[in-house]
Amino acid sequence: ALDITKLRGETGAITLDPGYKNTGSCESAITFLDGEKGILRYRGYSIEELAEKADFLEVAYLLIFGELPTETQLQKFNTDILDQSIVNEDMKTVLKGFPESAHPMGVLSSLTSALTAFNPKSVNVDSEEDMYKAIVKILAKFPVLAAWTLRKKNNQNLYNKDTNIGYVESLLKMMFQEDNKKNYKLNKTVVNALDKLLILHADHEQNCSTSTVRIVGSSHAGLFASISAGVSALWGPLHGGANQAVIEMLEEIKADGGDTSKFIAKAKDKDDPFRLMGFGHRVYKNFDPRAKIIKKAADEVLGQLGVEDPILEIAKGLEKAALEDQYFIDRKLYPNVDFYSGIIYRAMGIPTEMFTVMFAVGRLPGWIAQWREMRLRKEPIGRPRQVYIGETHRKFKDIANR
Ligand code: ACO
Repeated sequence: ALDITKLRGETGAITLDPGYKNTGSCESAITFLDGEKGILRYRGYSIEELAEKADFLEVAYLLIFGELPTETQLQKFNTDILDQSIVNEDMKTVLKGFPESAHPMGVLSSLTSALTAFNPKSVNVDSEEDMYKAIVKILAKFPVLAAWTLRKKNNQNLYNKDTNIGYVESLLKMMFQEDNKKNYKLNKTVVNALDKLLILHADHEQNCSTSTVRIVGSSHAGLFASISAGVSALWGPLHGGANQAVIEMLEEIKADGGDTSKFIAKAKDKDDPFRLMGFGHRVYKNFDPRAKIIKKAADEVLGQLGVEDPILEIAKGLEKAALEDQYFIDRKLYPNVDFYSGIIYRAMGIPTEMFTVMFAVGRLPGWIAQWREMRLRKEPIGRPRQVYIGETHRKFKDIANR
């Protein structure tokens, strides 16, 4: 039988699969996804069970190292991360150079890339030990940078991690601690909801940003540079940027009087570029199991926080109308993870432009796990081919004769 992994491009045969709809780029033991049945598992554990029983750092360990940590392993992991949580003071100068109007995702991607300059030893990591050091560094510093992107927007002081509280708690504190005010009061409902959202976003096999991380890393560019590229890929509204786009769309529907049918008609019109944001998925063709969990969580969180958000009602109305519409039924378009996540972020007081940054913090362990797997398996450099459709050979024309 033909072993395609041994072919070196000399056959002349190239498969063409725009968007890689049917092309596997790697073998992976991290995340299992069945789009027809709506199943999602990290390292064999169902997303429903992990969202209910685990915390984000445990899930990060599981994704990266393959097993749920023992108490001792988790403690060491946490301590190693805390030891690396200070971000170099000069990074603040880099941040200062951005205008306040800059989108937090652009700033986050740039700051993540800038980390390579301040941590040169984390660039060439060939041994597992060096990989581990780079991994705990990025897990430690990334949430600090994420929080700083918000503080920059609000022109507030920049804080480092509070090492006496948990990973998610310190992220919230770094974001929301008011300058010259008493300690930021953590709300248990908010902490638990954010922890759950981060777990739901933690990995999703070979999606656009993860494939980007793997392909950039496959050139042996460092982990931080690969993650920075992943952040840029996530930013787009067809991927992680959808959570921001959903809220903007729901706001638009509200401002327009709340009639969802007009927007459904727009989404169906092939001459109109408008799409129903938060609907559809490349792999899920039945339902997105994360969306189910999030929809329930949105109701609970808003109830517990006493937030009444008319946007939630519009979202529910839009979902119902779309699910009854033949266009969406025929194309198997269902709400995805981002349809309801923005509503919870809003209830927590997180500004809309920060939604995709929160997604990035959640996806970080997945990116790391996939990068580590790719390096440990010594995968070759990612280098797709093409089918050339341009001109055949042409003779050069002097500029006077063009
Ligand atoms: N609204 C209206 N029509 C849609 C939508 C939508 N949200 N999504 C897909 N369609 C239609 C397409 O127009 C196409 O119709 P056609 O067969 O008549 O031409 C058909 O459904 C198939 O869509 P594709 O674009 O081929 O599907 P693909 O797998 O390439 O795209 C994607 C998936 C990008 C998620 C798409 O559904 C979309 O743009 N959704 C809105 C953005 C969004 O919510 N993204 C977040 C995804 S989840 C995540 O990344 C975390």
